[in-house]
Amino acid sequence: MAIRDSRIPGFYKLPLPARRDEIAARGDLGEDAFQVLDAGGLDRATADRMVENAIGVYALPLGLGLNFRVNGEDYAVPMAVEEPSVIAAASNAARMVRAGGGFHGEADDPIMTAQIELLEVPHATKAEAEILARKDTLLAHANELIPRMVARGGGARDLEVRLPARDQGGDVGRVVVHVHIDCRDAMGANLLNTVAEGMAPTLAALSGGKAGLRILTNLSDKRLVRLRARVPFAALATEATAGEDAAEAIASASRFAEDDAYRAATHNKGIMNGVDAVVIATGNDWRGVEAGAHAFAAASGRYRPLSRWWTDGEGHLQGELVMPLAVGTVGGTLGVHAGARLAQRLLGVDSATTLAVVIGAVGMASNLAALRALATEGIQRGHMACHRRATSEIPLPAETETARPPLRAPSAEATP
Ligand code: MEV
Repeated sequence: MAIRDSRIPGFYKLPLPARRDEIAARGDLGEDAFQVLDAGGLDRATADRMVENAIGVYALPLGLGLNFRVNGEDYAVPMAVEEPSVIAAASNAARMVRAGGGFHGEADDPIMTAQIELLEVPHATKAEAEILARKDTLLAHANELIPRMVARGGGARDLEVRLPARDQGGDVGRVVVHVHIDCRDAMGANLLNTVAEGMAPTLAALSGGKAGLRILTNLSDKRLVRLRARVPFAALATEATAGEDAAEAIASASRFAEDDAYRAATHNKGIMNGVDAVVIATGNDWRGVEAGAHAFAAASGRYRPLSRWWTDGEGHLQGELVMPLAVGTVGGTLGVHAGARLAQRLLGVDSATTLAVVIGAVGMASNLAALRALATEGIQRGHMACHRRATSEIPLPAETETARPPLRAPSAEATP
């Protein structure tokens, strides 16, 4: 089903129906596969079952990021995003990376962590010892709570006791137990929360305290992806800038992000432009991914960029990205959202870890595109051209034209 050649020259010039035909033919999809997208991928009745007080469906454009080659495989990547130029920029950068062999990367096993807070613990170190002495029994207990995940090859892998309050000079009496669970192809939130709630009474009894919060942590730092890219200087050249100069300017922009948290935040925003678009399209929890990314970026005590770029002295710009990516290919929204199911079919990944690696590649491509533009001609030229195209081609509803101020091209002060 997946598109096995993600180079489709001139795709952007086709009218939307012709793009669908092209992809349907390449992906061996039925003629009407795309019809679900005409209602935003979600019908009203399903929306009404999904959330409370529903009054409709709120749609986003869905496009394809092209030119992606990741670990030797091609991917046409579904991206749901409202910001003009994100898809074009990522596709453009993916083509540059492709010139150097594409992205390479791997993901950790899909391990998520449940946190069980224990309060009013009289002797924290004694509680720690009591709990750790029963680690095997406790892990077996965790597995009893999630038999279907265990049957699928996942389940509890390890348990740790943390005394974060004491470490930070805060309340003694608080002990936190972390249970690490392999979620296989699920994102895992429900599973983790089941384990946290199910184990809390036993842990509270062992600690001599009482159970506090029982929930997963979104700082999923055991579920990292690592991506690498190596781009020949020539692929980075712009009309006005030689490839080597562009590469050096990108490396300098990367150092700026390492030195300055204000810049690092924007640098990471550029990464999340690509990451979130795929996370949303594939029906995953983008708030969880965002929370994890930024907590990880700040984990050293200083907010840092999630990627870095440098020149290697051999004619290449090199880059790497490391970040947590808690995403799934089964369960959750996928069960109900036809658009997300179509997106996953188009992408054709066979596991949550492969999905995470592809998402990391799209984040890295978005980042490279932004840095190249910023470090050479500036972001406004290409970006605002896309904004103008988007705003000028949208016909305004009659009542909007008369009763409301007209839709304007964003001003120069608008978010880049
Ligand atoms: C805009 O959506 C993203 C950028 O600000 C990212 C960056 O500055 O690196 C262009």
